[in-house]
Amino acid sequence: MKDFLPFVRPSIAPQTRHGVSEVLASGWITSGPQVEAFEAELGTYLGNRPVLSFCHATGALEESLRALGIGPGDEVIVPAMTFAATLNVVFRVGARPVLVDVDFATRNLDVERVKAALNERTRVIMPVHFAGLAVDLDPLYQLAEQNQLRIVEDAAHAIGAYYRGRRIGSFGDIVCFSFHANKNLTTIEGGAVSTRDEVILEKLRRLRFHGQKKLEDGSYDILMPASKYNLSDVNARIGRDQLAVLESRNSRRRALADLYFEGLADLAGSGDLSLPARGDTGHAWHMFAVCIPYAERSTSRREIREALAARGVGTGVHYPALHQLTVAREMGITAGEFPNSERIGCETLTLPLFPEMQDQDVARVVDALTGVLHGRP
Ligand SMILES: Cc1ncc(COP(=O)(O)O)c(C=O)c1O
Repeated sequence: MKDFLPFVRPSIAPQTRHGVSEVLASGWITSGPQVEAFEAELGTYLGNRPVLSFCHATGALEESLRALGIGPGDEVIVPAMTFAATLNVVFRVGARPVLVDVDFATRNLDVERVKAALNERTRVIMPVHFAGLAVDLDPLYQLAEQNQLRIVEDAAHAIGAYYRGRRIGSFGDIVCFSFHANKNLTTIEGGAVSTRDEVILEKLRRLRFHGQKKLEDGSYDILMPASKYNLSDVNARIGRDQLAVLESRNSRRRALADLYFEGLADLAGSGDLSLPARGDTGHAWHMFAVCIPYAERSTSRREIREALAARGVGTGVHYPALHQLTVAREMGITAGEFPNSERIGCETLTLPLFPEMQDQDVARVVDALTGVLHGRP
């Protein structure tokens, strides 16, 4: 068998290893000059917006809600199709997540579905730019303004994505990125918040580090109970190199996605699978996931995945719908039906996509998938 093609592989340039070695040898390895530089460079990339780094997006999202004063009695709108972090952070601050179904093709929230879920307890909308495809934000921000709501964008998949020509995170209320190992820009684990809201920034600065305020005499005070979500200099050093090549890597992702659309057109045309929404050139293509009606074909996702793995092709599952998770049921999320999210959760299959893939790797995946779905040996 040819080399196994995983569904994702982080791209770490050789010079990054050298850069990390320098930081390790520098005598300062936790938050310091590299974090400062990374935040400044990211801020420049995001149109000169203030940026605060975190050790993960989960912390960035949770503290953003906390900084907004969200807690018991408040409701937060969350798409029913997203990673569990988007849901968990709402539980963690004691608020109630209100799930809203997504569009089947875009996997994203739309304003009409959100509108139907609003009530007097709604405080925040948390749209997720699923797989790097920007949510249609203009109508959502309009709705938020009309109803005095805040928006915390879960942009975990969307570093380098564009909405109507504007970079995600270069505008908008509070925008949270993830730099987890699988993301378009990785710091191994990491995250960031971009916002122009000075009050929120000040709170986030404290919330990410023990609630600490430095005093003039070199001592400090602790202003509030808080956690510890700072990024280390080692991680930030990786992020600086990753940011420098983000645009070219995202271009490569777009080219690979184009090849998938060409290669999978016949399977989509014959109803063997559904392709994701293509979006425009602003799609960051964090993932490329198709939906396959396993039950109709009298097979299962597991069987298809095993057959693909036997042909050297790795796949992923992103994600089960939130309302199907035990945590959602046990926390009382029983209301509502989310047919699109449920179908995506049952049918989705993430195919390999990472910038170092060659064109022929896409051809190999298409060939393997065609063979598996058409029962070829
Ligand atoms: C949509 C979404 N939100 C939040 C997160 C959490 O990111 P992190 O792992 O950086 O905490 C992820 C991680 O994959 C995600 O996919």
